[in-house]
Amino acid sequence: MKTRSASLILVILVLTCGNALSQTAGNPVTDLLLSAWSPRNFTAEPVTDQQIDMILQCGIKAPSARNGQPWHFTVLKDEALMKEIISNIVPGNVIIIVSGKESATGTTPDFDCGLTTQNMFIAATSMGLGGRIYGGPIAAARSRREALQIPAGFTPVIMLRVGNMEKGPDAASGASPRKTKEEMVNYVR
Ligand SMILES: Cc1cc2nc3c(=O)[nH]c(=O)nc-3n(C[C@H](O)[C@H](O)[C@H](O)COP(=O)(O)O)c2cc1C
Repeated sequence: MKTRSASLILVILVLTCGNALSQTAGNPVTDLLLSAWSPRNFTAEPVTDQQIDMILQCGIKAPSARNGQPWHFTVLKDEALMKEIISNIVPGNVIIIVSGKESATGTTPDFDCGLTTQNMFIAATSMGLGGRIYGGPIAAARSRREALQIPAGFTPVIMLRVGNMEKGPDAASGASPRKTKEEMVNYVR
């Protein structure tokens, strides 16, 4: 009987501690979100089709308004075309261009495109790849929609560059600093 009670207490302790732990350090999702960063330097080691496939699956799983999924993904590997859009691209990089549905009035295609892009960024990072989101050169993608075979009714909104990172700064030194919570958060209790 005593052994049974002790086992029960042990199970409760493990469950309670496990739950507490999952809300702090040791939670792989929050640990990844807090350590993710956007590298600029990549090697020429190619990103594999399997890696791209998994990244796309994670993007497609993103939530969207009314589950409208108002997005289209262009996987760009053509080196010359990639260079026309992001000049310092290296072979082996892949650019995923996220285009939003033009006719989605009353919905939020740009916002939804941001969500799918962040899902893919985090997926790439979790796989040990480097990811960097690009909005600055979006005009270069928009003006090449024919070459990029963007389907009618969609406009490029944002891009994700994926590649193998050069071994260099770790997350602590590589990530850009953030404003403090005190600057940005207010609580209404
Ligand atoms: C919507 C958006 C647009 C961005 N556009 C560019 C860009 O045009 N060029 C660039 O080098 N980085 C771009 N970035 C990357 C940001 O500069 C980077 O996420 C930010 O500085 C934080 O860096 P960290 O993730 O390394 O901490 C963009 C990021 C976002 C979310």
